[in-house]
Amino acid sequence: MCGIVAYYGPNNAYEYLIKGLRRLEYRGYDSAGIALLNGDLTIYKNQGKVSELEAIAEGNNLEGKRGIGHTRWATHGEPNTVNAHPHQSQSGNIALIHNGIIENYATIKKVLMQRGHEFKSETDTEVLTHLIEEIQVKEQVDLLEAVRLALNEVVGAYAIVILSKNDPNTLIAARKGSPLVVGIGKESGEFYLASDATPIIEYTNQVTYIDDNEIVAIQDGEMSVKTIDNVVKSPFIQELQISIDSIEKGGYDHFMLKEIFEQPKSIYDSMRGRFDAENLTFSMRSLEEYASKIKNLDRIIIIACGTSWHAGLVGEYLIEEFSRIPVEVEYASEFRYRNPIVTEDDLVIAISQSGETADTLAAIEMAKDKGATIYGICNVVGSSIPRTTHAGAYTHAGPEIGVASTKAFTAQVTVLTLLALGIAEIRGKITQDRLRTMFSELNTIPQKVDNLLQSCNEKCKEIAAIYKNASNCLYLGRGYNFPVALEGALKLKEISYIHAEGYPAAEMKHGPIALIDEEMPVIVIATKRNYYEKVLSNIQEVKARKGKIIAIVTEGDEKVAEIADHYIEIPDTEDSLTPILATIPLQLLSYYIAVMRDCNVDQPRNLAKSVTVE
Ligand code: M6R
Repeated sequence: MCGIVAYYGPNNAYEYLIKGLRRLEYRGYDSAGIALLNGDLTIYKNQGKVSELEAIAEGNNLEGKRGIGHTRWATHGEPNTVNAHPHQSQSGNIALIHNGIIENYATIKKVLMQRGHEFKSETDTEVLTHLIEEIQVKEQVDLLEAVRLALNEVVGAYAIVILSKNDPNTLIAARKGSPLVVGIGKESGEFYLASDATPIIEYTNQVTYIDDNEIVAIQDGEMSVKTIDNVVKSPFIQELQISIDSIEKGGYDHFMLKEIFEQPKSIYDSMRGRFDAENLTFSMRSLEEYASKIKNLDRIIIIACGTSWHAGLVGEYLIEEFSRIPVEVEYASEFRYRNPIVTEDDLVIAISQSGETADTLAAIEMAKDKGATIYGICNVVGSSIPRTTHAGAYTHAGPEIGVASTKAFTAQVTVLTLLALGIAEIRGKITQDRLRTMFSELNTIPQKVDNLLQSCNEKCKEIAAIYKNASNCLYLGRGYNFPVALEGALKLKEISYIHAEGYPAAEMKHGPIALIDEEMPVIVIATKRNYYEKVLSNIQEVKARKGKIIAIVTEGDEKVAEIADHYIEIPDTEDSLTPILATIPLQLLSYYIAVMRDCNVDQPRNLAKSVTVE
């Protein structure tokens, strides 16, 4: 949450800052601000979007070869202009941007106020800015040392960047718990900083990911890195693997629609090179390395949040079906606080698109402390979770910019399918015939998704037009399709603000059935191989109460199609692979309903893509 960018180099910073903030706006859009160092510190900031900031800045002095920028998801203090970043020190000489939370800010603020500091905002960030200046003046140290000493007093999470009017050739940045990437520019002494690599890729593909407790100093055109304990580090420069096309809308109206339509490719990329269908073997290094651990496992715990948690539920069904190991799926936020029983014999699978979700990260640390082996399934390369886990697999879905997760989910489910099959193979729980069937069916999935996108898009639009004004919606599914129902409901509520609930179809009669009347659309996933007859009965129960049925059915189905008010066909596949296909029309349905309700699909209210606060 919150996006930060910074530039240090021979050119004007403004263009990079504004473009970068637009790219990071998915991380928060409550307010935006920049500071430019041009002899003086020029600051523009405003409540609202980056476009509004641009309108304010335009026509003014935009000179400055060093600059910092911030797009905010409010935590401390309401989303207004005063609380917008950058924040300044008591003298106004230091400007700072921050992503994270300074937990002990109130204590520090009290002490600083006793020493005469006056604060303009309600934020935790402003306190850190004042603290750095106070230390610099009191201890008579340079900016880098003042930042280092201040960070030693701070409890919490941060990615920060600091500029000082008194040190025009210096830019300091640091991270703990919030992401920070430095791009090495093409010109001498040129550096681009950001919360993730998307703003940087247009300018350079050489980057270094900063680790927790590290401080980056760019002084007189040279970069150095040290820890907050004063240990010098050598930055590891690597080449970015993402392309500029992957972070642009490419002719689509919204990133979400583009990402939905990218799924044939993202699903293919998530399985590419990971199995050999002819020889029935896996090429997943993480599986090989942990083979002996996997053989002796008693239990697997899956931790995640939101959509990733739904993928985790599909993972539970997959792993239990194929490898017969008990699986528990936990909300990371609950797991981390309830002192769960975790032992060295457990494998904990952490799933996260962003790789930065604070609760998932904290849950990983806790499980690690208890001795468990942690396996990460993440999308963002170089993010915090893959860097803290013992082993893992990237989903390779490519950048997901829309706040509502779509292609990340289907890629996570694909990787979990491979993992379930791989574990089953290592433990001798799957026959060669079954493995052959699964591999050959997996190979057909990208094409089936492609066909499905073409065949169901218009139908989803038509159904969306009928139900766009609904106030409630129920999603039902059984077995593998229960997590799909949960995911469908989450997608609808987060982007269209229609209240929606997902349920196991059989649970309907234990409560939700009371809600059903002629106004209630009920979306039922009723595919052939997933408890078809049972779901059929559930549909009848809804129809008997005049509910409206929108059914997701297997191609050629006649029974459900006959009684449903609307139906969308999906290609036939293995029951265990149904979630990947059944999710697609639900994504499209939510998308079109949200568009028809004039909602901001890519940036739904109150949400942020990367939830780096607990
Ligand atoms: O980056 P993560 O996968 O860890 O994020 C978890 C959730 O915040 C995320 O899935 C969220 O629920 C999405 N907005 C769902 O579309």
